[in-house]
Order: sequence, then structure tokens, then C-alpha cells
Amino acid sequence: MKKLKNVTVLDHPLINHKIAILRSVETHTKDFRELVEEITTLLTYEAFKDAPTQEVEVQTPLEKCTQRMIAENSIAVVPVLRAGLGMVAGVHTLFPTAKVGHIGLYRDEETLRPQEYYCKLPDGIENKRVIVLDPMLATGGSAVAAIDMLKKRGCKDIRQMSIIAAPEGVEKLATAHPDVHIFVAYLDRELNEHGYILPGLGDAGDRLFGTK
Ligand code: PRP
Ligand code: URA
Repeated sequence: MKKLKNVTVLDHPLINHKIAILRSVETHTKDFRELVEEITTLLTYEAFKDAPTQEVEVQTPLEKCTQRMIAENSIAVVPVLRAGLGMVAGVHTLFPTAKVGHIGLYRDEETLRPQEYYCKLPDGIENKRVIVLDPMLATGGSAVAAIDMLKKRGCKDIRQMSIIAAPEGVEKLATAHPDVHIFVAYLDRELNEHGYILPGLGDAGDRLFGTK
């Protein structure tokens, strides 16, 4: 894959360690869910590096000082149902006041095209930084559709956060929405003929929610 400007792939021993356990077919729902949260927390640290901040005055036990805090009401996360739900707690561990919107999309198994079924976003979302959460960026169809929906509702400052991505999905999203910075914990090799990421981890929604 050619190097893309707006893509950050976390290359870190802690991430790689956790992803190895996440991929394993031996890892069951409880551990899988906890690992998704932990990896999301590590991604959040990276994705918040340039979060909008404001100056506040703080009284310490010794004196007053000024300090920068993340601007109130400035950030929303939007998990793509279902699997994105598994990432919300990982963001809230570091930033509990992030507002949460929800977008419902599923991939048609024949065409692999995303089908929209739900959209509920926080008031004033158009003025917030929005981080789309979806552990899997495969063909990129769902991410492109989710971001289209957000832009149609006026959002201008959007990022994508995923745990595992295929090069095909990263390229599709970067081409469709070059203004959207993409944060991924790991970049995998390719997609198979059914649109599954290889080596991947299988179906993230089923593994998170124990549906298969
Ligand atoms: C998975 C995943 C993404 C999408 C990625 O969801 O969570 O939303 O596939 O594939 P794409 O990049 O090719 O669009 P799925 O459609 O299986 O729905 P689910 O989360 O409800 O299981
Ligand atoms: N969705 C998943 O959950 N896994 C994949 O490998 C591709 C899409």
C-alpha cells in the first residue's frame, strides 16, 4: 500500500501483543470484549493528541495556575452498530464526557454494500470533532457511508478509529474522504473473496456479542 498522509498506524509492542490475543480463535467473548476496549483506549490516546483545548484556571493547594483542558462539549464518538459499540467504553475510560451518537449499518452479504438502518446523533454534532468507531475497516464501504451520513448532517471535523484495517479499505476511505484522518491499530494483508480481512479476527460483531 502506498504511504498515505492522513493515516496513522499504531506500531507499538503493547498493541501488537493485545492484537495477537484478540485474533486467536481461542479467545472467547469476555476477553475479546476487554481487549477491544483496551486497544481502543490506546488508540484514543493517539487520536486525542491534537484535541481542541481551552485554558482554565485551577486553584491547587498552593496557588492558582492556568492549565489547558479539552474544550467542553467539543468531542463526540459515533460507533457504527454493532461492532463499534464495543469501542465506546475504551474511549470513555480516558474521556468520560465524550457524547455518543449511533449509526446503524450492516453489510449486505452478497453485494458487500452497506445498508443504513439507524442514525441518532447528539445535538450540535456539526460543531464537534467526531470520531467514528468501528473495529473493522474491510472494504471501507461502511466507513465511507457512515462519514457520508455525518457530512450530510453538517459535520466537518471527522476522524475514523479502527482496530484492524485492510489496505483496500484504507485506500477507499482515504480517496472518498481525504480530509478524514484514519487511526488504525494494525494494518492487515488483504481481503478474501467474501470481504473478510486476512489474517483478521473473523466477524467482530459476532465475537463481541457471542452471536455465533
Ligand atoms: C462489520 C464491521 C464494519 C463492516 C466493515 O459490520 O463492524 O461495520 O463490517 O466492512 P466494510 O469495511 O467492508 O464495510 P457488519 O456489517 O458485519 O455488521 P455488524 O457489526 O452488525 O455485525
Ligand atoms: N467485518 C468483520 O467483522 N470482519 C471482517 O473481517 C470484515 C468485515
